[in-house]
Amino acid sequence: MGIKRLSTGVPELDAMLEGGIPKGFTIAVTGEPGTGKTILCIHFIAKGVREGDKCIYVTTEESRESIITQAEQFGFSFSEGIANKKLIIIDALMGVRDEWSLQSLEMEELINKVIEAKKSLGYGEARLVIDSLSAFWLDKPAMARRYSYFVKKVLSKWDFTVMATSQYAITTSEAFGWGVEHIADGIIRFRRSVRDGVLKRYILIEKMRQTNHSLQMYEIAILSGKGLTIVKPVEMRKEDISLPRHVMERIHRSSERKEAEIP
Ligand SMILES: Nc1ncnc2c1ncn2[C@@H]1O[C@H](COP(=O)(O)OP(=O)(O)OP(=O)(O)O)[C@@H](O)[C@H]1O
Ligand SMILES: [Mg+2]
Repeated sequence: MGIKRLSTGVPELDAMLEGGIPKGFTIAVTGEPGTGKTILCIHFIAKGVREGDKCIYVTTEESRESIITQAEQFGFSFSEGIANKKLIIIDALMGVRDEWSLQSLEMEELINKVIEAKKSLGYGEARLVIDSLSAFWLDKPAMARRYSYFVKKVLSKWDFTVMATSQYAITTSEAFGWGVEHIADGIIRFRRSVRDGVLKRYILIEKMRQTNHSLQMYEIAILSGKGLTIVKPVEMRKEDISLPRHVMERIHRSSERKEAEIP
């Protein structure tokens, strides 16, 4: 039997994934700030809502309203999804707001709230975004791995396919970027660079179990009215393929010696 795959909501990305993310997987979406993690999550949920899946979006970094506004900019009506009982947005801005607000960034509360939301949406295939999962171990980075495993184990029983973002910063690599990656069934990594004074963003599928996925890094663009789009494959630069300088210097020296030896 073939594997059932869920569309990410970005057609070119689906093509890079043999059709999409295998159903039931837990995927880590990592990358530096502003690289497109939240926007990919919005596409994934918008696609789910359109296909009639039960959708849950947990937002810890932004308010519910901010996610709805951002989705609207790309033509997705999350308020309609909420009104039609296809989508629940859980936020973590603390302080009592309503039944879909977390009162703490505790793992147990997250899991309980997600299960409650799933029960409220009803049976059937479900998509879950946790943006970000790393927020739940901010003050206890050593728990990252155990927590991610816990999330995966508990939620897999509830018919979820999960997309969890993990903030990754080189300066804090001990706190972020670890935990989710090893437990995750897939890793979608965003990157950025500034070239010729312009910010560019990239996407790379670093891991996707059971999938003959693309190994190519692509430049992406985020466009009003459209959202995340793939621009073009990233060509290899001279720096990517050239040998380290000290090696080059040794090769030069040895070829000079050889030339000197020629009578
Ligand atoms: N309507 C829009 N049109 C064009 N670009 C937009 C639009 N809305 C957002 N963006 C771009 O998307 C970026 C935000 O991307 P996103 O929220 O996905 O980042 P992120 O990876 O989730 O970052 P963080 O880790 O800080 O949450 C903005 O900085 C902006 O460059
Ligand atoms: Mg974000």
